This record gives sequence, C-alpha cells and structure tokens, in this order.
Amino acid sequence: MVVWSALRFNCGREMANRFAIAPLTTDASHEDGTATDDELEFVRRRAAGGFGAAISSAAYVEQDGRSWQGIGAAHDAHLPSLRRLAEAMRAAGALAILQIYDGGRIARPELIGEQRMRAPSAVASLRPGARTPRAMTHEEIVGLIGSFRAAASLARKAGFDGVEIHGANHYAVHQFFSPRANHRTDHWGGTLSKRMNFALAVAQAVRDALGPDLIAGFRVTPFEAEADGYTLEDAKQLCDELARLDLDYISVSLDDYRMSRPAGETRVYDRPVESAHVAVDKSPITELARVIAGRAAVMASGGIKTCADAEGAIGMGADLVAIGRAVVVDPEWMSKVRGSSEASILAGLPQDEREIAGALSIPPRMVEYLLSRPGWIPRL
Ligand SMILES: Cc1cc2nc3c(=O)[nH]c(=O)nc-3n(C[C@H](O)[C@H](O)[C@H](O)COP(=O)(O)O)c2cc1C
Repeated sequence: MVVWSALRFNCGREMANRFAIAPLTTDASHEDGTATDDELEFVRRRAAGGFGAAISSAAYVEQDGRSWQGIGAAHDAHLPSLRRLAEAMRAAGALAILQIYDGGRIARPELIGEQRMRAPSAVASLRPGARTPRAMTHEEIVGLIGSFRAAASLARKAGFDGVEIHGANHYAVHQFFSPRANHRTDHWGGTLSKRMNFALAVAQAVRDALGPDLIAGFRVTPFEAEADGYTLEDAKQLCDELARLDLDYISVSLDDYRMSRPAGETRVYDRPVESAHVAVDKSPITELARVIAGRAAVMASGGIKTCADAEGAIGMGADLVAIGRAVVVDPEWMSKVRGSSEASILAGLPQDEREIAGALSIPPRMVEYLLSRPGWIPRL
C-alpha cells in the first residue's frame, strides 16, 4: 500500500511513511510562547506511534499576530523551547516540521493589546465579536515577511527538518490572498496576482532561510466558502506559482477530505460544515494536485480516521495525509493503524472530563479549549 511507502521530498529528506501529525494548536503554552512540558508530552506520545512526520502547533512569528496562547518562533529567547520541541517530535523518528503563522485580523486582542491588531486592510473578520484591525503599512508588511524568514532561521537552528507556512484557515497569509480581507491597491493587493505577492514573498523568504536541504511546506485553504471569497481557480494559480518556488509540499486544508467545501470563516462546530460529498475527479485535492503536477508533494487532511481514509485521499491525488482530531482523541492512533488494530481506536474523548488530561496526555488548558467548541471533537 502506498501509505506505507517512503517519500523523498525535493530537498532530499525522506519521510518513512505517508502519515503526518497535523498542526494542532494547544492554546496551552507559557505566556512567553515557550512550550510547556505537557505540550512536549502531547506530541512525543503521539509521534511515538511511528508517524513519518509531525507538524507542530502553529508558532507565532510576531507578538502582535498571536491568535492563541501557543508557541512562538519570534525571537532568540524561543530557541531553547523550539529545540526541546523538535527533539520531542522526532524522538521516534518522525521528521519534525515547525508550522509558523501570523493571525492578522484574527489575532486575539486579549493577548496582544486592544489597539495592536493589524491586517492587510481595516476590515473585520466575519467571526462574531471580531474587532476591526488597522491596515498595515508597506514597511510593516515587509517587516512581517522578515519575521517569517527569521522564524524559519530559528527552526533551522533548533534542529527542525523543515517549516510549514500557515497559509490557510483565515490567518494572515490567507487574508492577503482573500479579496474579502485584502482591499489594498498597492503591491500587496488589488488584483489576483498582487494578492498572491505576500504568500509568494513569505514562501521565498522561508526557502532562503532554510537553505536547499530542509523541507519547506505551505498550507492552503483550497477556496473560500463565502460567495465573495477567492475561488478554487484562484487557488490553482497560487499553487502553480508556489510550485515554482522549490517548495517540498503543499498541504490542502479541508474539514473533510471527501467533501466539496472547506469550512467558512463563521463556522459553528455543533453543526457539520454544509458540504456535499465530492466526486474524486472534482475534489479540490485532485484539482490542486493536477496543477502542482509533481513539482511538490501534496498533503491532504480532514476527517482521515482510518488507513482506508488515507488511501482514499491518496486516490484523490494526495501524496501524504495529515491526521488531526483522530490523534488528539487517541494518542496511540498511529501504532493501532500500523498494527492493523483499528477496531481498538478510541472514537472520542471520554465524557468524564477528569479522565481526559491524564489518560490521554492532553494539556489541561487544551482540554478546556477543545471542550469550549461543542461538536469540534467527538465525545464517547
Ligand atoms: C485542536 C486543534 C488545533 C488545530 N490547530 C491548527 C494549527 O495550529 N494550524 C493548522 O494549520 N491547523 C490547525 N488545526 C486544523 C487541523 O490541522 C486539521 O486540518 C483539521 O482538524 C481537520 O483535520 P482532522 O479532521 O484530521 O482533525 C487544528 C485542529 C484542531 C482540532
């Protein structure tokens, strides 16, 4: 089966199988953006099952872009924490990949200060209670690209095998590409090609900082669910341009890999995303894989819970799969899939909340975060 075969990235690094731990924010780091022991244990235990790669929770590159109390890769003081994280992630042989992000207009005001939120344009997100950010100056945008570059350098120094740029899920890189969030008329917006400029500049900066022998990945939302958002055709053009930049993989972020639509910005978790099952040849994964055409590996994610699901996503054109909620709920998910004992995979978090943190090695604050969105994570 393809899922058990190794994959060699363009940069030369080899992933032993096709399974990666998806980026999973814990919202449970220290206030200064260093990882807690609980967070290290969360990923160490899950990676121990034999994943080919582990992608970290998203690390902020600038304090003013923090969307949760997660890890940072924003300055040299984060280096020891990043080193410990890379070691925990790769203890069982997984490639360790650091995801880096900026929150832009969905940064959390309580973390960064009410007045500090900045984004491509002064347009509030559709999320309930969202505040209107300040539009960034050209100099601030160039500075933010520099912060992504610096974060990639820190990742290299910390011993990571690579970096994934969080270009999906409505964070800043996505916002620059979105005509809903980006109303600029300068180099950074106004036309489709200009709305790509930020993503491409960040990708180039990260590649430059990593050098040719580390993995550079980019996560993309394949289109916006909102009627005035960017389309799959737009994302195809972005992926075509990204694939020219020596990237190692492009990760397609979907709530469910079988479905036609990604989650919208105003997603509620207690109802499924309104979306229809999609024919294999019409899948956003297939469409983007066609454009990328082997120039970078394609990673799929969303609702992959079994080996058969992973094969299904690969059948749609993916080369790799990322596993999120399934491995939150069952830390031994990978070893059970490898050992063909899928029947024993835990299907949800226990009802008794006191059991969750200790038994499943989930940081207590992350448990609160998971349970604060009913319907997000299945319960037994
Ligand atoms: C607790 C939690 C935290 C997440 N944090 C991130 C993140 O930091 N970066 C990111 O790109 N996606 C994040 N996601 C999205 C997942 O990586 C994944 O794409 C999504 O959950 C769908 O895949 P799944 O059905 O396997 O969970 C998070 C998801 C969950 C459940």
